[in-house]
Amino acid sequence: MNHDTWADVDRYVCDLLFPSDPALAAALRASEAAGLPAISVSPPQGRMLQMFARMVDARHILEIGTLGGYSTIWLARALPDDGRLVSIEVDAARADLARSNIARAGLSGIVDVRLGRALDVLPEIEREAPDPFDVIFIDADKESCAEYFAWALKLSRSGSVIVVDNVVRDGAVADASTSDPRVLGVRRLNEAMAAEPRVMATIIQTVGSKGYDGFAIARVI
Ligand code: SAH
Ligand code: DHB
Ligand code: MG
Repeated sequence: MNHDTWADVDRYVCDLLFPSDPALAAALRASEAAGLPAISVSPPQGRMLQMFARMVDARHILEIGTLGGYSTIWLARALPDDGRLVSIEVDAARADLARSNIARAGLSGIVDVRLGRALDVLPEIEREAPDPFDVIFIDADKESCAEYFAWALKLSRSGSVIVVDNVVRDGAVADASTSDPRVLGVRRLNEAMAAEPRVMATIIQTVGSKGYDGFAIARVI
């Protein structure tokens, strides 16, 4: 079993379930043309995020780490017409590209891409006293994901779902002697989540076209 098999199965799943989606395909093409790394979620993962949002009847979604807006489009499509998704991106060119991909998908009316460091933008969002976010997707710099998780708790309600991408990192997460700051960041998140009485949580390993990684999934009690 290797990466080729995982990619073959992802292709099979995508051909079966997601054969044609012009807006998502255009977003990926534009992201590639702009030289963005191919680190967006895969289509089956995008659908999973979208389904989580539907399962909790999400009206308000927060995303940390926009890139070209690919996961943003999946998530925003779960929202009703009067819903709202706020996505935070530190890189201005990426935020611009994401806005244009989101506009092409017809979602500009409900998506707000905020430019800035998440740890600067999150306090601004808190000051705006928004309705609690029903789904929070954490997918930015891995060094800070424990801080983002604390913010997610602060901006959520009982029943909100918090999903964190890339918490397995080819299995590196299980290496207690790692000195990789990104893996250390993920381990700190996982420990904070495990010790947090306000959530019920798990960590699920994944394989596919994006390699071997995983999601932390938490429900606020
Ligand atoms: N969620 C996207 C992928 C995000 S990749 C998708 O699946 O389609 C991670 C993104 O987080 C990158 O675009 C990176 O620029 C951004 N990022 C990194 N550090 C950040 C920070 N401190 N604040 C906000 N965004 C950050
Ligand atoms: C990286 C970031 C991601 O969000 C991801 O899904 C995969 C890789 C990265 O920074 O390498
Ligand atoms: Mg990711």
